[in-house]
Parts: sequence; structure tokens; C-alpha cells
Amino acid sequence: MQIKLVEVGLRDGLQNERVILATEDKVKVAQGLIKAGIRHLEVTSFVSPKWIPQLADAAQLAHQLPPLADVVYRALVPNRRGAERAGQTPIHEWAVFLSASETHNRKNINKSIEDTYPVLREVMELARQQGIRVRGYVSTVFGCPYEGEVPTEQVLRVCERLLQLGVYEISLGDTIGVATPKAVKRLLRACQRHIPLEQIAGHFHDTRGTGLANAYAALELGVRTLDTSLGGLGGCPYAPGAAGNLATEDVLYLLEQEGIDTGIDLALVCETSDFVQTKCKRALPSKVLQSYLAQKRDEKRGDGD
Ligand code: HMG
Ligand code: MG
Repeated sequence: MQIKLVEVGLRDGLQNERVILATEDKVKVAQGLIKAGIRHLEVTSFVSPKWIPQLADAAQLAHQLPPLADVVYRALVPNRRGAERAGQTPIHEWAVFLSASETHNRKNINKSIEDTYPVLREVMELARQQGIRVRGYVSTVFGCPYEGEVPTEQVLRVCERLLQLGVYEISLGDTIGVATPKAVKRLLRACQRHIPLEQIAGHFHDTRGTGLANAYAALELGVRTLDTSLGGLGGCPYAPGAAGNLATEDVLYLLEQEGIDTGIDLALVCETSDFVQTKCKRALPSKVLQSYLAQKRDEKRGDGD
């Protein structure tokens, strides 16, 4: 079984951190992840720096990333201005985004869902002119922090519009981490009737500790692309209570133990997350990361005895 992991920590993770990492430190994180074997990295956003100051260095970062033939760098692009900025950088892929729930969409990008489509159409047109592939994100698919449960038909409607606009893949986001495996399977089964599973990615948050179970449920149903974040860094700044994307290390450990090879070196990802912890001045929530670091400390103590 081939699983594609999309590392979103540098974007989805850092956008939610209090500390703003220096561009050179972000480059070091990207290098660490690439050395570990990660090939798909969402590195930044060309959104308004007033809204997300943590990613204001998007263009500088993009220019400093090592250009490697087998590594794909992706960034979020919200509108024409973002597309113009991204288009002047070596970013390979763009991602457009909107929410399945009206209130979250307005709070996140200052527009109704319906008014968002013409903006995204412009982005898609600019991408087409440059031969750039675009992914589509749908946030709040399992629940909205303002509206509660989000009807499946609403999610499907947004997915359908995104596909009509020409995105090659849709990432379904459990933005506030409320899903459980039953809900994941229910939504995926409904989606599957309209969208091939190869075009769907799972974007889970571990807010309530169900992220890994949800990812597993998605894999069982046939999803082969998962978004993860090193150390479990991240969340959505406009979804109160949301904390922590599903951790790359936790998913890697699970896959490894299940006999699924990803070609990614877990220890090297942990080392990179440890660097991020130091920079962000907080312990990251990944259980596998913390157990790796505890073991390393024990071994070091043992050596000193
Ligand atoms: P707005 O204020 O409505 O935009 O924001 P505007 O078009 O009225 O422009 C206002 C000012 O912003 C202008 O500057 C524009 O030039 C500037 P001024 O004239 O005042 O000096 N501006 C920009 N500057 C740089 N880059 C741009 C840009 N656009 C406008 N692209 C906007 C609309 C969409 C820009 C804003 O709401 C925004 O940036 N939102 C981003 C919010 C965000 O990044 N949220 C997190 C990502 S989504 C997420 O995390 C969920 C996901 O991970 C899935 C999941 O977890 O479930 C994907
Ligand atoms: Mg997210």
C-alpha cells in the first residue's frame, strides 16, 4: 500500500504559533524534513500578512528552499494578490481554500461561500496560465466552531464546485478536531459516490485525541493521502479551541508498525520537531515525538553512568 503524506507543519502549524520563526529556521526545518524523506511539503501561505503575520515571509522562504527535482513545495493562495505573489516564486503547487460552513468562511477569509468562488476562479486561471496544479481545501467538514454540525450535502456542494473550478485533489479538513471514525466513514462514503477516493486527502486535527483513529478509518476506506504536521504543530486560528494537526510522527509510527513503508525516517522527523520545539519554546503534542525524546534522554543518562 502506498501512502502519500503531505507535511503541512510549516504552513498549518506555524500559522498558529505565538512565536514567529525566522526564515532561516524555516529553511532548516524544510531541510530536516526532506532529509527524513518527506517529498510533499506545504511550506507557507500567500495570504494577507495582516491576517497571518507568522507567514509574512512567504516569498523570501520560497526563494531560499533547496530546489530539488523530487520535492514538491506547495503554498496556500487565497486570491489574485496571493497568486501574483506566489507566481513570482519557485513554489510548484498552490492550494485554494474555503469552508463548508458559512460563518467559518466569513471569519477566515472575510467572504460568503458564494462570493468566494469568483475569487478562486481567478486564482485557478492564473495557475492554469503558469501550468501550476492546484489543490482545494474544504475546512470544517465535520463541524464548525460557530454553527456546530455541518450537513453532508453542504460539504458535497462545496467539493463539487471546487472540482468544477479544476482542483486536482480535495483535502477534507476536520478543522476543529471533532470527528470520530464513524463520521469519517459516513462522509467518505457519501463523497465516494461523486469523487474518486484518489482525489481525496484526509486532513485531521487531534484536538480531542481522535486524529489517528480518524486517519486509520480513512485509510481503511481507501484514502491514500494524509496531511500531517511535524510534532503535531498547529491548528486553525479562527476556530476557537482547535489545537494540533495530526502529528506526522504519530502517523509514521502507526504506518511502520502496520507494515506500510513510507520511505520516511521517523527518527529524523523527530529530530526536526525537536528543533522546532526549541524555537517555539513549547513541547509539541506528538506522543511518538515525546516518547522518542524521553528514550534519547534515558540513553544519554545511561551513557553517562
Ligand atoms: P480582506 O481584508 O477581505 O482583503 O482579506 P481585501 O481584498 O479587502 O484586502 C485588504 C488588504 O489586504 C489590502 O491591503 C490588500 O492588498 C491586502 P491594503 O490596501 O489594506 O494595504 N491583501 C493581501 N496582501 C497580501 N497577500 C494577499 C492579500 N490579499 C489582500 N493575498 C484575505 C481577505 C483572504 C486576504 C484574508 O482574509 C486572509 O488573508 N485570510 C487568510 C486566513 C488564513 O490564512 N487562514 C488560515 C488558513 S485556512 C486553514 O488553516 C484551514 C486548513 O488548514 C484546513 C483545515 O485545517 O481544516 C486549510
Ligand atoms: Mg489544518
